[in-house]
Parts: sequence; structure tokens; C-alpha cells
Amino acid sequence: MIGTLTMNPAIDRTVTVDGFRLGTLNRVRKVRVDASGKGINVSKALIRFGEQSLAMGLLGGMTGQFIEQDLQNDGILPAFTWIKGQSTRTNVKVFDAESGSTTEINEPGPEISSANLQALRRDLFSGLGRVSYLVCSGSLPPGVPDTFYADVIREAQAKGVHCILDTSGSALARGMHAVPTLVKPNREEASQVLGVDLRSEAQIIEAVHRFLDIGIPYVVISLGPDGAVFATGESIVWAQASVDMIRSTAGCGDALVAAVVWSLCSGKSWLEVARFATAAATATASLDGTIFPTMDMINSFSQRVCMKNM
Ligand SMILES: Nc1ncnc2c1ncn2[C@@H]1O[C@H](COP(=O)(O)OP(=O)(O)OP(=O)(O)O)[C@@H](O)[C@H]1O
Ligand SMILES: [Mg+2]
Repeated sequence: MIGTLTMNPAIDRTVTVDGFRLGTLNRVRKVRVDASGKGINVSKALIRFGEQSLAMGLLGGMTGQFIEQDLQNDGILPAFTWIKGQSTRTNVKVFDAESGSTTEINEPGPEISSANLQALRRDLFSGLGRVSYLVCSGSLPPGVPDTFYADVIREAQAKGVHCILDTSGSALARGMHAVPTLVKPNREEASQVLGVDLRSEAQIIEAVHRFLDIGIPYVVISLGPDGAVFATGESIVWAQASVDMIRSTAGCGDALVAAVVWSLCSGKSWLEVARFATAAATATASLDGTIFPTMDMINSFSQRVCMKNM
């Protein structure tokens, strides 16, 4: 089974207003509430491939209960650690139907005590006995040291669990040196952690080699509308697919990660991994909100994927 780890989940409360105005009363026309967080999104994408995953991380309060129930309804196995006295955050997204713009108001998340972190690590390490891959995705909440993913990766890999790391900043800088099986930074995240620009093809290849040289066997750098570069020590391929109409790019990176880990688990070749993951990510961009595509949709997108050796 695949495990996902979400340290800072959230409820996304999306309210639709007609003509959002600051400093005055805005009447809400529609409300949508979704469980969110990067690892949770990966679990949601995996269930579309027919893959049940073990969703781990931290939850608290009524908002946490909502997320647990929502995942259960989707057929995902929640195995979260409960933080006492604090609630999982709510992020408010104000969608203005007139201008088509979204204003986001995101909470930092609850401050995690060392007792809560210890409890999480206990639960996580018992969960590791049930998974062969662990996806560590997203930012760390306040109170969690930036060495956290690095420590988890070292311990998980010592237990024979392959780790996928999709985070940013110092959590990525520390985590990548623990040599996970795969890293998936986007262009900005890779650029920031390596301190180089990733504009030209040569710069992107240079960045890929910097990750490979650490000993990381699989490197995927996603480039938004420009697709993604999929690299191993043997081959570097660039894959891209066109989307007729972009509806929402939210969760595209998570769909990419879910598709990569799922196709690696299924024993697909690296070229097949690149094709399937690109099809899954671009199909996600063609859907509203953070909705993940079905296998049928992915299969039809996979015919549009262009690939090139670099
Ligand atoms: N505008 C787009 N057109 C076509 N494909 C896209 C577009 N945006 C994203 N994708 C696809 O989704 C993949 C992941 O996108 P991106 O590089 O934006 O990830 P990310 O920044 O990690 O996203 P996330 O917000 O989910 O973390 C890309 O590699 C590409 O295949
Ligand atoms: Mg991302």
C-alpha cells in the first residue's frame, strides 16, 4: 500500500460572491467545503486510480473530524494522529464570479507541541509497517523543525519504505540530503533550493544533475504549462501535453506525484511513468477546483503527451 503524510492539512472553504469588495458586506452565493492538504490530495488522486492509501498526519478538533469523515467517504484509510485542544486550520477562498479572481486567506495551522510530534512519530512508524511507499507532501506547521522530513525519510528507508518528497524551502533542502527515492520540486522550489535559475534547458538539466548527484534515484521537476522533466541516472525525458481549456491548476502537482508513485509501484517503465503522470496532471488542469481525473480521462489525455529525450 501507499502511505501519504500531511503535516498541515486544511479545510478549504470556498465562497462564491458576485463582485468582491473590500471593507464592506459581501453576500455569499455558494459555499463549498473540501478536505485539503498536499498528501490528502495525493490520496484523493490515488483513489481515482483504484488505489486505496493510508492517509497519515495531524488532525484536530471538528475541522479534523470533517476531514477524517470526508476521506473515509472517499474510500481512503485515515490513520491520523489527533492533536489535543487545537483545530485543523480552515483556509478561506473567496471566488469572485464577476472577475473570475480568487482571494485566498490561509491560516498558518496550529502550533505543534513536542508531545504531539512524538505521538505522530509513534503512529507514523507503526503505519510504516503497512506501506511500501510513503509520500511526504506539503509544508510543515509551526513548531515542527525543518529537519522533520529528513528524519522521517531516514527512518522509513531504514525500514525498507521508499519515500517521495514534495515540499519546499528548508524542509526540502534538509529532506533531499536524506536521499529519498524521488523528489518532485516545481521550477521555483528547485530554483530556490539549488540557488540557480531554471529557465533554459541547460539550466534545467544542470538542476536535475544536482539532485541525482546527491544519490536520489528519481527526480521530477515540474514546469507548470511547460510540462515536467523526468530523470533517472539512465535517462532524462521531458513530457508535456496541451490542455484545450484550463479550468484550475490547483492540485496538478499532487496529481503528478500520485501518478508517478502509483505507476512506479505498478512496475511501469520510466517512459510509461512520464506519460501517465503527465496525462494525469494535465487532465487535472482541465477540471474545476481540486478534482482529480478518472482513469478514462487520463487514458484519453495520454494520447496527447509529447515526449523528448534531453
Ligand atoms: N497550465 C497548464 N497547462 C498544462 N499542464 C499543466 C498546467 N499547469 C500544470 N500542468 C501540469 O501539471 C504538472 C504539475 O504542475 P506544476 O508544475 O504547476 O506543479 P506544482 O507547482 O507543484 O503544483 P501544486 O500547486 O499542485 O503544488 C505539470 O508538470 C504539468 O504536467
Ligand atoms: Mg507542488
